[in-house]
Amino acid sequence: MLPEPSSLLEARGLVREFDLPGRGLFGPRKFLTAVSDVSFAIRRGEILGLVGESGSGKTTIGRMVMRLLDPTRGQVFFDGFDLTALKGRQLRQQRRRFQMVFQDPYASLNPRMRVGEIVGEPLLIHDLAHSPAERRERVARLFERVGLSSHDLDRYPREFSGGGRQRVGIARAIACSPDLLVADEPIASLDLSIGAQIINLFASLNETERMSILFISHDLSVVRYLSDRVVVLYRGRAVESGPTPEVLTNPAHPYTRLLVGRDQAVPVEPRNGESVSSGLCPFLSRCPDALPVCREVAPEHFVNDGGGRDVVCHLAARQVLWTPSSSSPSIQGIV
Ligand SMILES: Nc1ncnc2c1ncn2[C@@H]1O[C@H](COP(=O)(O)OP(=O)(O)OP(=O)(O)O)[C@@H](O)[C@H]1O
Ligand code: SF4
Ligand SMILES: [Mg+2]
Repeated sequence: MLPEPSSLLEARGLVREFDLPGRGLFGPRKFLTAVSDVSFAIRRGEILGLVGESGSGKTTIGRMVMRLLDPTRGQVFFDGFDLTALKGRQLRQQRRRFQMVFQDPYASLNPRMRVGEIVGEPLLIHDLAHSPAERRERVARLFERVGLSSHDLDRYPREFSGGGRQRVGIARAIACSPDLLVADEPIASLDLSIGAQIINLFASLNETERMSILFISHDLSVVRYLSDRVVVLYRGRAVESGPTPEVLTNPAHPYTRLLVGRDQAVPVEPRNGESVSSGLCPFLSRCPDALPVCREVAPEHFVNDGGGRDVVCHLAARQVLWTPSSSSPSIQGIV
């Protein structure tokens, strides 16, 4: 099946397993399924929120999208290219088109480089400036774009506050005018007012430069504010997805309802190395609405009439709104 023409990125059936220690010489392989059959699409110019509690697989998905981590199974299409199959020069050529913003900008900035060099490095690597003077000029403009002063170019990362460092990280990420930003908890280490400024910067990059953004967060209120559509993850599975206002005002999955009821940071439920591959609904043990069928059969994907929403739950099957999905979740939903 070819990727949808309107989507910039499509993740199809992503699975990522991590080996766990403790396998004997001839014993069975022990592994954790961190991400299990997750599919979604990001349209051009869209912000897609990815929410879920700690350990639900958000970062693992972000890293697979960025090709920093290979999926165990599944594919990632970027602008029609099968990223999972790209290697060497072809991958490097595409790489400047998708960039990542990390939670901890300090850890991702080389402390021995001046911030001007850090931000200018991608321009150098991809040969996007004709001379050092042009590069410096472009870096100065990037600094202004992210709300820093061009007088800061020769300072070191340690001389900036957390918010300033995150702005440097964003300036570096947008240096080559990428089509897609993957932002993994970019405000989690910042205080509230600084975090709000960074959120507004993402909103402005999306609106003015039409950058698509995969915005990963455990904070529902931020995702509610920023994202056009949302994917809710639970234990490595996408349990519900659709337009943000609809999913968050009228959630269909009991887990989303739980999140929305709290409407705050998503609670932490350690996975303790447990695999999610048992097959039944991953929310079964916590679900207040579980039906007898939930203990016997895995729920399938159901979509609403317009196809814009997707939910994986037996309860949804009992409601008129939903019908079984005939194709991949979320991908169908963006047509
Ligand atoms: N390299 C690895 N080796 C083994 N297990 C891993 C590895 N990376 C992630 N995991 C496990 O995979 C699961 C998903 O981790 P991931 O970091 O993607 O979750 P997350 O949703 O980003 O969590 P958080 O909100 O805490 O950042 C977790 O149980 C984690 O312990
Ligand atoms: S499938 Fe069953 S157990 Fe799972 S969320 Fe829906 S009702 Fe609850
Ligand atoms: Mg994470």
